[in-house]
Order: sequence, then C-alpha cells, then structure tokens
Amino acid sequence: MTEVSKQRLLLATRNAHKTREVREILGADWIVEDLSVLPDLPEIEETGETFEENAKLKALAAAPHYDGWVLADDSGLEVDALGGAPGVRSARFAGDAATMEENRALLGEKLRGEKNRAGRFRCVLALAKSGAFVRTFSGAVEGSIAGEESGQGGFGYDPLFVPEGETRTFAEMGPEEKHALSHRGRALRAAADFLRSVS
Ligand code: IMP
Repeated sequence: MTEVSKQRLLLATRNAHKTREVREILGADWIVEDLSVLPDLPEIEETGETFEENAKLKALAAAPHYDGWVLADDSGLEVDALGGAPGVRSARFAGDAATMEENRALLGEKLRGEKNRAGRFRCVLALAKSGAFVRTFSGAVEGSIAGEESGQGGFGYDPLFVPEGETRTFAEMGPEEKHALSHRGRALRAAADFLRSVS
C-alpha cells in the first residue's frame, strides 16, 4: 500500500502509550497522529463522570482543529471490591499529579487482604469529524488484580492486571497478545471496521 492510499487519523491524546498501542493495533494501513501535531491546543479537562462523556469531550475539543477523522480514547480500570474505582479517575487515583507507580501502589494497598480481586479494563472511543461527534465504540476485558506487580511491558496498571483465562499480567505479554484481548484492541477493531465501511 502506498502512502497516498493510507488513511489519516488524529488520536486526541498526549499519552504516548495510547498512541503507540493504537498504531500497533491499526497497523500499516493508517497514519495515526496525536496531539503533538496541535501543540497549542490547551489541556482538555476530563470533567465527565463516565468514559463516554470524557471520550466525547476530548474528541470534540480536538475535532475543529483537524481535517479528518478524530478519535479519542477514555479508558480505565474498574475494581469490584472498590465499587468500580478507580474508573474514570484511573490516571489520577493517588492524586492529580500522581505517577502510575503511586497509583498502582495505592491500588495494591486498598486491596491488601481482599479476597474479591475481580475487575475489568474498559475503553470508550469517541469518533468525530468536521467538528461534529459521529459515534462511540467500546471494549472491555474482564480479569483480576494480582497481589504483586509482574512484567515490564505495557503501561499503567498492566503489571497488576491478569486477564480472565490467563496466568500472566498484561505487562508480561507481548503487544500482539495484549491487543488481541484488551479493551482498547476490542474497541479499536470495531472502530476500524466502521471507518473502512464508510471510507
Ligand atoms: P485517561 O483515559 O487518559 O483518563 O487515562 C486512562 C488511565 O487508565 C491510564 O492512565 C491508565 O492508568 C489506565 N489504563 C487505560 N488503559 C490501560 C491499559 O491498557 N493498561 C493499563 N492501564 C490502562
């Protein structure tokens, strides 16, 4: 496939891990840019209470500034024993400026001695074009929260998340293995099917 026939897409994020994963999942047919191409766009406040609301907020903030498809990912980890937390606050669980090490440490602390380790990753992708919202796609992966961190791959809570039917964490898997199972892989494959059908 030549460069000319590739489709362009803006991922409305400054999270380089998300950009890398979206590029890996969509593969060579797509040119995926992210908000590094819009350095002057102000930080988008995630004021929504659901993944859907936040994904739409991010897509609509970026869409007027980009000529083409805009996709925004809002995602996070829901833990049953914590009533669904950290959820939409996954990136800020231990505080607004918290590092992922601190967020994972807090999760480990809150679940110490807890028998119910069940949880899931969720991802909602909001698609926009020409400044207007088009639709959302979602994906989830059930699993459990490990008692200690394992693995060096992935990002965020991956060293603590063991998908259902597996014994290894996402951080112990290669990218293809993770994406075949992951919330983001599922949502993004649905989005790619839709984009192919309308392009
Ligand atoms: P947001 O969508 O920018 O609000 O942040 C999502 C947060 O959820 C990330 O910073 C991670 O902490 C977590 N998260 C989302 N997807 C993944 C994943 O695939 N692996 C590990 N953590 C994730």
